[in-house]
This record gives sequence, C-alpha cells and structure tokens, in this order.
Amino acid sequence: MRKLMRSIKGFPSNTLVLALVCFFWIPSLSQQPTTFTSITPGGVWPADDGKHIDCHAGNIIYSAQSKRYYWFGEHRGSPGGVACYSSADLYNWKNEGLAMQKGAIAVLERPKVAYNTTTKKYVLWFHYDNGGYGLAHLGVASSDSVRGPYTLVDHFLPNGHQSRDMGMYCDDNGKVYIIYAADPTNVTIRIVELTSDYLNVTTNDVDIQAHCEGPGMLKINGVYYLITSKCSGWTPNQATYYTATSVTGPFTSKGDPCVGDTNHTTFNSQPCNIFQIPGYSNGFMYMGDRWNGVGSANSQYVFLPITITSTGAMQIKWAASWTPSSVFTPSSVKEKNVYDFKQAVFGNAVNRTVLRAFDLLGRSLSLNYPRDPHNYSNRLSNPMRSFP
Ligand code: DGJ
Repeated sequence: MRKLMRSIKGFPSNTLVLALVCFFWIPSLSQQPTTFTSITPGGVWPADDGKHIDCHAGNIIYSAQSKRYYWFGEHRGSPGGVACYSSADLYNWKNEGLAMQKGAIAVLERPKVAYNTTTKKYVLWFHYDNGGYGLAHLGVASSDSVRGPYTLVDHFLPNGHQSRDMGMYCDDNGKVYIIYAADPTNVTIRIVELTSDYLNVTTNDVDIQAHCEGPGMLKINGVYYLITSKCSGWTPNQATYYTATSVTGPFTSKGDPCVGDTNHTTFNSQPCNIFQIPGYSNGFMYMGDRWNGVGSANSQYVFLPITITSTGAMQIKWAASWTPSSVFTPSSVKEKNVYDFKQAVFGNAVNRTVLRAFDLLGRSLSLNYPRDPHNYSNRLSNPMRSFP
C-alpha cells in the first residue's frame, strides 16, 4: 500500500480521482448493450453480449407462451453450428448460445426450425454436406427444448434428389414443407411435404418450376409467393418471385419484387426466409443475408417489410429503419378469429359489457360488447374465458 502511495505521490488528487473513475466506469459503460427501437437493415447488429449477431440464413419462430421470438441460423464463427437468439421485440436479441454443434458435419447451412404441436418437439432441418458440396443432403435434428441441444436424426437425399439451399414453409393447416434447390445442381427447385411428426419427408415431392437458391415462401389470400435468388455463391444477385394457388405449384415467375433496388442485387442480400410477424394481418418480413462475397460470421442482415399490393404484386422496398407497427395493419378483432387472442375477459361497466382481449403480442384491446359492430355472441358466450 505504502509502495502504491509512493508511486502515485506527485499526481494532483483530482487527476487521480478522474483516472480511477474512468478505469471503473468507462469499461462498464462500453459493456452496456445498445437498446434498439427499430429494425435497421445492414450494418452491425449487436446482441445482448455486445457482439454482432452470428445467425445467418435461418428462420424465426414465435412462442406465444413465452412471448418471445427465437431466431435460428448458421453460426459461422467458431465453433460452427446452429445459433439461437431470442427477443421480445425483434430488435433486441439475447444470445442463447449454440442450439446444435456442427461437430463432424463439414457443411451445415440454412437451418430452419418448426415446432410440432402433437409431438411437442422442435424440429430442425438444414443443408447437410461435405466440404465439396457433393453430398447435397437434407439433415434433420430434433430437441425437446426450443434452445436445444438438437440431436441429429438423419441426413439423406430427399426422394433421391440432390438438396442444397433450402427453406421451410409452415402452412396454416399444420403441414410443413421443405423447399430445396435440387438437381441437377440447383437447376430446379422442389418442394417436399414433411411427415406429420416433421421428422421425415413424404413422397409428395414436386418440381415447382422455379430455379435457383435462397428460397422463402408466404401465403396471403390463398396465393403462395415464393422468393428465390439466382446462383452466384456469396455474391448477391437479383431476386425473382413466383406465385401459385397451390403450395405444390405450378409457380409462375413474376420478376423482381424489389422496388428502387438500382443495382439489382436484392438490396445487396440473398433471401433466406419470409417471417410472418404475429399480430398483423399482412405482416411479412423479408429475411436476407448480406454475405459481402465471403459468407463470414460478420455478414449482415437485410430484414425488410414485404408488401402485397392490391393487384397481388409482391414488393420489397428499402427502409433504413422500420417497425412492424409503422408498416403493417395490426390484426383487429374484426379481422381475426378470436382464437388468435391469448386471453379475453368480460367485465361490467355502467350499462355495458367491456371486452378486453390480449393478442399474441400481449397488447390489450378494449371493446364495447355488444355495441361494437361485430357479433361475438356465438364465439364468446362464456363471460370469462382463456384462449390457447
Ligand atoms: C450460395 C448459397 O446460397 C449459400 O447458402 C452457400 O451455399 C453458398 N452458395 C456457398 O458457396
């Protein structure tokens, strides 16, 4: 102690105090995670650990129970595998660690997770390959917990076809499909229906007359929209979208959905998924990766709102900063089936009954019952009722 005092002797006491404050305060400040209030495509996007999110080419699922989004993707840093991040708002993400280690798998790309409500298992599908991309398998793993660990179940050529880039589409009837760039070497795109436990493929496996990589799909008003990139490795190119009235096609090419994308590079990104944001009647989010020609851990994310115009065209426009509520229409009781609401409670106020409903995002709505112009009587006969 005396030694320390001797060594600091001669320093003006103010300087010393300032130095000590800086020593303890500045590092703690720099570890404060940034709080985001919007989605800002491109650029560095730190998670709660202060590090750029390393979760590429994946998908997002929403848990109505925990009211959290779970984002899965390729963890391209070391160790490789499937990353999992979670968030309450789509802006601020918590690093949940690796959901699955890559281990001996040479190439594990484009992971996508679906929850099976019957088996209560989380099922992970991905592109499983060797170092030369010569196997072209689909891989499947499963877990009892959303965050994993996921255990490899199998990997194979689906119905004998090559499968490289893949996407997942969960239809509203509970059926799940894998959309995959197939043979010969990405020239076709096929869609295959999964078995009811989501752990295997069925023989309902169709060439949907589309071409290329990076598939993602949505459905609105009975029309399926498929987006794909062309094949240029990690370099971005112009997207194409296709439409069909059946999930198995045939799909018709409709051209580039991007508006104002002057370089024709899908805003410098490659599609990996379309996420339907719960709580909105038309809330679809384009998810793309900005690989910067390399495909490294610090590749960025281009998440943009998708609009389907009144004439049925898909449009993706650049938005430097956006929130779902600034772009999409919140689902109202009028538009939505009441079972989409987590909880609805009747209470009596002077001469009227008030319905309070909580949607899947936990927001509450107050409605006068039965004076609001919707007839709930058939569906809400019980004055106190919880919905799944
Ligand atoms: C393009 C694909 O879209 C990526 O997922 C990846 O497989 C690279 N090719 C590899 O070059």
